[in-house]
Amino acid sequence: MSRAALLTSLTVAAVLVSLCAANTHTRVTFDNNVYSDLVIAIHPDVPENPDIIDRIKTIVTDASEYLHITTRQRAFFGGVSVLVPETWQDRPEYEAATWETYDTSDVRVAAPNPEFDHNPYVRTFSGCGEKGEYMHLTPAYILDEVPLGSTEYLWGPSGRVFIHEWSHLRYGVFDEYGIPAEGYPNFYFNENGRITVTGCKINTPGYSRNYRTNGRCSTDSATGLPDEECQFFPYLNTQGSGHGSVMYMQFLTPVDHFCDDSEGDHGHNADAPNKQNRVCDGRSTWDVITNTQDFKAPDGTPINTARDVVSTEPTFRIVKARKPRYVLVFDISGSMDSIDDPSINTPRRSLLHQTVYKLVREGIPDGSHVGMAKFHSWAERLTDLTEILTEADRQELADTVPNEASGGTCIGCGLVEALEILSMNGADPAGGIVIILSDGDESAGVTPNLTQATAQLVDAGVTVHSVTYSSAADSRMEEVAASTHGRAFFFSGASNSNSLEEGLREAVRVQNSAAARASSLQLYSNAVKLEVGATFDATVLLDSTVGENTEFSFGWTDETGVEWSVTSPSGTVYTNSSAEVSYNHQAKIATVKLAGKAEVGSWVIHVQNPSNASAQRVVLTVNSRPSASEPPITANAWLSNSDLQVWPPRAVVYAEVTQGLSPIIGAHVVATVQGPDNQQNSYTLQLRDDGAGADLTKNDGTYSAYFTQFTGTGRYSVSAAVTNPDGTAQLKTSVAGSAAPFQDPSKMPVSTTSYQPVETFERQSAAGVFQLLDYKPGDGFPPSRITDLEVVKVSYSDRTVLLRWTAPGDDYDQGQASQYDVRMSSDTRSLRSGFDRAAPVNGSMLTSGSLSNPVPAGFHEYIQVLVPLSDDKTVVFAVTAQDASGNTGGASNFVSVTFDYQDSYGEGSEGGSGPSAAMIGAIVGGVLGAALIIGVSIVIAVKISSGKTRIREIRITPRDNFGADVDLPPYSGPKGKMDATAHA
Ligand SMILES: *[C@@H]1O[C@H](CO)[C@@H](O)[C@H](O)[C@H]1NC(C)=O
Ligand SMILES: *[C@@H]1O[C@H](CO)[C@@H](O)[C@H](O)[C@H]1NC(C)=O
Repeated sequence: MSRAALLTSLTVAAVLVSLCAANTHTRVTFDNNVYSDLVIAIHPDVPENPDIIDRIKTIVTDASEYLHITTRQRAFFGGVSVLVPETWQDRPEYEAATWETYDTSDVRVAAPNPEFDHNPYVRTFSGCGEKGEYMHLTPAYILDEVPLGSTEYLWGPSGRVFIHEWSHLRYGVFDEYGIPAEGYPNFYFNENGRITVTGCKINTPGYSRNYRTNGRCSTDSATGLPDEECQFFPYLNTQGSGHGSVMYMQFLTPVDHFCDDSEGDHGHNADAPNKQNRVCDGRSTWDVITNTQDFKAPDGTPINTARDVVSTEPTFRIVKARKPRYVLVFDISGSMDSIDDPSINTPRRSLLHQTVYKLVREGIPDGSHVGMAKFHSWAERLTDLTEILTEADRQELADTVPNEASGGTCIGCGLVEALEILSMNGADPAGGIVIILSDGDESAGVTPNLTQATAQLVDAGVTVHSVTYSSAADSRMEEVAASTHGRAFFFSGASNSNSLEEGLREAVRVQNSAAARASSLQLYSNAVKLEVGATFDATVLLDSTVGENTEFSFGWTDETGVEWSVTSPSGTVYTNSSAEVSYNHQAKIATVKLAGKAEVGSWVIHVQNPSNASAQRVVLTVNSRPSASEPPITANAWLSNSDLQVWPPRAVVYAEVTQGLSPIIGAHVVATVQGPDNQQNSYTLQLRDDGAGADLTKNDGTYSAYFTQFTGTGRYSVSAAVTNPDGTAQLKTSVAGSAAPFQDPSKMPVSTTSYQPVETFERQSAAGVFQLLDYKPGDGFPPSRITDLEVVKVSYSDRTVLLRWTAPGDDYDQGQASQYDVRMSSDTRSLRSGFDRAAPVNGSMLTSGSLSNPVPAGFHEYIQVLVPLSDDKTVVFAVTAQDASGNTGGASNFVSVTFDYQDSYGEGSEGGSGPSAAMIGAIVGGVLGAALIIGVSIVIAVKISSGKTRIREIRITPRDNFGADVDLPPYSGPKGKMDATAHA
């Protein structure tokens, strides 16, 4: 049918976008080994400084060359746009931006995120091989003005750092070094029981130190591994050998490639407990990269294969940002006269009129350029693009909102009309935003049809956000949005859903941080069906970060109106007769507008349906602007993708909760999903920030969960509410040195994370729509793969290992699994190649915990395993979960422990003064003893005595703390700015 036709008619890039989850906004294309349309955008708050542009050119030019080398001649940068803010002065070399915007850019130059300081980092929340959101670079990083020292000294050459981050962003590969703060240790036990540095290729020469004190590392008594502050320091001045990897230590001169599946210098280390292995299930970064759509056609043939080129130098355009331009396009076909709920005698066109009237009056930020069109069998322009500056502009636009219905449905006509509005007077339509609402299938035989119009909009660089009204809406609406990098929303028509208003409001704010900042935040949004005489009360919390220009709004459906009141925390009552109320009889809306700062605390909203004849649909919203003193708490929700074409779908709901750039953790985040049947049914889903299931990173303020409760083919509208009912939410401000590996770890900002309690608050955000195209009954969803298996404690004396992981559910990360299968082996390779053939851990081996009684998803599972005696030095564990229908999730990440130890070292040796009380019974074994660096073949070898008899008590001397000492000089890395080749 037309779906296939549409797909083939679009450009390859657009098709890729619609198939990829997550980042839908990038417009970077990749053809004939060249990345084009990369956008590097400077945030409006960055002070004007043209040097930033020159430095960007240098960095990206170096990066392009390094990309060509590290992808083995497969890729480099071609066309790059640098977007400067509107506030910067005009210069002859600046062109006007067309499609480029800050919010859809790939690389963002903005003030430091407190969590990462000047570390370059990539914002990502999606999985292995999937695109991230954007790369963040600070102006000081770009200008080489970081207070700690030269950027090259700290992180290595900027072009290389750029490619490290680019690889996160474009290819969905992850760090190969340890990140203790995220649960990836810096060291682990290899299969010979030796402590090994978490990395890719393991023969990088260097030594270990406590990065804070520059002294010796101590041992974590629970795991036997070096403590979290213990860092590996590579030798920067060793020759050739000891390749790292682009995702490991890109600053080491010999690093010229990603780790791959070969045995050579770039051989991938699948055993390291790093994020790459965890998220990508032990795959090498090069394997992941070459399997992305950039390097592999859908039929599996390699594309963009190696090619020698004369120059890898990119070309730069400098473009200056423009004001946002919106065109609102409304369906006025005959079906808009339908009444969704017979007991509420209101046609769709009236609900649409009410909602859009309110949007135009209250939801569109000042300074926007807005046009409007309507369509049925053909389209008509309602207004040209008009700048919204005054109340009168706003009212004029509001008075133009249609409330009519007749004729057929030519969605393509509406889209092409919008394109014409954006193109008037010879303007370039690129970068314009079309928000289109439609409730039906496109009529047969219309011209231009949806397929043709979509192709035109894709060509023109226009973004379409689609809002579908009713399940009967054309199934291609989500695809129009995906093909044009837009978002999709859905309103079923249910009387208890306000997703029409929420979707339209979000469509205005999304991908437009200027609009988002200039418009108010949604604190509360609800629709209720009030029977004759019925009342409804709600409490809404106003926190101290908002309160300016607060608006309480009521919408209703019957001529009799509603009786309502709003009561402030101190008891002031606002009603229909208060001076602060504006009232529109035609749109059936009343709004209390409080100028200045409203009282912080609980406001009570009361509403009653006074009609003795008719039930009413009543819409209640509370919006408020940030109070000037501090950044507001914000919540933004979105979905992995809208079109779900395969069964079972991986449908993820995300919500990011932040204050400024700092994450808020511990909040209560609940998504509400309205199903396709125009019933009152809704499903709720708790989103978690626990680094398990759908959630990629723990405690980053992004909460995630899979939605699995599908009941049939059709659309599911999703919105998220964020609250802090028990005061568990905390603002996390931290300085983590882990966003990019430091060339000189002793210069790493000392990782400090502080948590401040957050007041009670509430926020609401529309996430969008899942359109499920192929529902199949039955339990199609396995438990999700466990990715956070960890060793909590090892006991040598008992040979027990305490393991912990976050429980998955019956369906991905929802519900409750029915049993676990834990396996063990002496090495990861055999476990990876044959999980089912590895030795099972059975119930009789557990000294605590259970394999057959899983806790609900999201809770911690603990088991203690008594490991049978064997000659294996290392034991590797992995776990899978199964549901009651026999669906099994994939094997978890692997963890290793070692039972290899010496029985008597330390005794009698110099400085040995008997056992240290604090450490008796601690585990550790092979960890202790002075570490040696042996050539380049192993990172850290531990002096091991020949004594292998197993004893009950281990005696430890403090002298023997892990780490190099007499054998090695203290770190004396390069000082000051360094020539990249100086230590080759
Ligand atoms: C849209 O129009 C084109 C050109 O007339 C036609 O080939 C195509 O089949 C139409 N698509 C649909 C879904 O009607
Ligand atoms: C609210 O006030 C307006 C304007 O004064 C009035 O027309 C309307 O009837 C009132 N509505 C109710 C329900 O009292």
